[in-house]
Amino acid sequence: MLLLTFEGIDGSGKSTQARRLNQHLQAEGHETLLVREPGGTELSERVRSVLLDSSLNVQPFAELLLFSAARAQLVAERIRPALDDGRIVICDRFFDSTTAYQGAGRGVAEPEWLRAFHRRVTDALVPDRTYLVEVDAETARDRRAQTRDEGDRMEAAGPEFYERVIAAYAELAEDEPDRFCRLDGRRSIEALHETVRADVTQLLNERRGTGFSGTGSSNL
Ligand code: ADP
Ligand code: TYD
Repeated sequence: MLLLTFEGIDGSGKSTQARRLNQHLQAEGHETLLVREPGGTELSERVRSVLLDSSLNVQPFAELLLFSAARAQLVAERIRPALDDGRIVICDRFFDSTTAYQGAGRGVAEPEWLRAFHRRVTDALVPDRTYLVEVDAETARDRRAQTRDEGDRMEAAGPEFYERVIAAYAELAEDEPDRFCRLDGRRSIEALHETVRADVTQLLNERRGTGFSGTGSSNL
């Protein structure tokens, strides 16, 4: 019924917000599905372990295809059915991650090409709202250090990589201001949650007002 995605660099705090929103919506009586990318299905979780394995040498284009394969499976197996079932789907990362990390970070493909590619991968599914949690690379690194022993294969990328990813996210948000909601990730967890919650409440009210029950699908 509604597809909400969270984006940001590793350690920005987006998973915390995705979980917090899910708890809130469930407490309000909504049927939800919370999934993370890459992951959420058996196949996608297996692809995830390949992608994050530091002992593997993964070529940039192969990386793009693997993230996308995990996504295609997740959309077909879980996201589409949940949306058709009237659920609110919360996705911790979606195709904007690929545009930012593989497109800009790795420099593997142009945004135009990626837009058409994502459309095929997701069967033209586009989030109704994308929350972009923005923090600088240093803050994110400090936050990662609090919770993780050692970085995975993706986190081995240097600071310039993260600068490119941050800039790409900002550009995506500028290009699609109606879909993106930009959040200053330096604010507290609760303050950020309040902002997200208010926005989702408004989205749900708009849906009720128009009686619209489908999800965005054709404005990639
Ligand atoms: P991500 O999913 O973006 O990698 P997480 O949600 O896992 O990030 O958060 C990484 C760490 O930062 C966790 O220890 C979390 O508790 C902490 N954190 C999350 N949001 C904030 C915030 N707004 N302020 C301070 N610390 C935060
Ligand atoms: P994860 O542990 O889920 O990181 P985080 O909690 O920060 O989301 O690992 C996912 C990693 O994969 C993260 O470094 C971002 C990266 N990624 C891509 O490079 N492209 C993608 O399309 C997706 C979904 C993730």
